[in-house]
Amino acid sequence: MKFWKGYSQSLQQHLEKTVSNKEPSQLYEPIRYILSLGGKRLRPTLTLLTADFFSGDYQKAMNAALAVELFHNFSLIHDDIMDNAPLRRGNATVHKKWNVNTGILSGDAMLILAYRLFEDYEPELFQELARLFSKTALEVCEGQQYDVDFETREDVQIEEYIKMIDFKTAVLLGAAMKMGAIVAGASASCKELIYEFGRNLGIAFQLQDDYLDAFGNPESFGKQVGGDIISNKKTFLYLTALQQSNGSDIDTLRHLYSVSPEDPAEKIDMVKSIFESSGAAKATLQEITSYTNKATSVLTKIDLSEEKKDKLRQFGDWLMNRTV
Ligand code: IPE
Ligand code: IPE
Ligand code: MG
Ligand code: MG
Ligand code: MG
Repeated sequence: MKFWKGYSQSLQQHLEKTVSNKEPSQLYEPIRYILSLGGKRLRPTLTLLTADFFSGDYQKAMNAALAVELFHNFSLIHDDIMDNAPLRRGNATVHKKWNVNTGILSGDAMLILAYRLFEDYEPELFQELARLFSKTALEVCEGQQYDVDFETREDVQIEEYIKMIDFKTAVLLGAAMKMGAIVAGASASCKELIYEFGRNLGIAFQLQDDYLDAFGNPESFGKQVGGDIISNKKTFLYLTALQQSNGSDIDTLRHLYSVSPEDPAEKIDMVKSIFESSGAAKATLQEITSYTNKATSVLTKIDLSEEKKDKLRQFGDWLMNRTV
């Protein structure tokens, strides 16, 4: 995906400038740390790419793109505290490297830094961007709360799970793209359609994140493989395995998701084997394809050249085949 690279270089240069070497270092050092670990930079790249596609100019969308990435990294620091995760992007999580209080406050500061980036936009753009950003950020909080609530609930439905991942993850991908369209002055219909494209892709993206959390390669995934199983996360894998298993596997799975052993290796192995034997692993991959197709089908209605639509389709395919 050659078209992708140009945006990321430009983004990196600007990102380094947003967080300078300020005091107290205990507040800013973790921010620089998490940002220096990189990650895929999907969301801000989508903001720039969308602005470019609708107006031919992506520089104007830079602040919005940086805001989205800062918000994303803030949510990761707090998510890792909530998920008790030791690893992020192949390195220690902020709360493990420092402590939980540091993670909370540095995360808070990042959220504020993100909002500040909208201040340079003219009033009308500022209002539209800030309104979308606030709505999205609140939905992410709601999604994160459902995610935690579901850990201890035994009656979670697949529909509820989809709503949860829509909120905690998908709306931010949609909003990242819509912000690019807003800055580019795209039509109302283009803004809505690109939001729907991003959002459906976001659902596929989180389904795949959950798949990789169980079946990813520990050498390259960058996060603790099996972390969702340890935390009893009610993922599509788990919910589908329950639906598609026979009596004894259902009991085993329910039991395994009610205990938290000191050494989780055996639990992880047993759960993964039921995910596979029940057909849930395969069903998850099919669901990822289905949401990716749903996203690309939105493109038929959108006012963009075939060449640009093709690039967006390529992006969807690339996302589906990722291992990180
Ligand atoms: C991780 O997002 C959090 C989810 C919503 C699954 P990414 O997989 O985009 O994380 P980075 O930024 O590339 O590390
Ligand atoms: C995270 O979902 C979504 C947000 C950070 C809001 P996960 O908990 O699955 O993300 P990872 O796997 O830790 O990156
Ligand atoms: Mg997590
Ligand atoms: Mg989480
Ligand atoms: Mg995950």
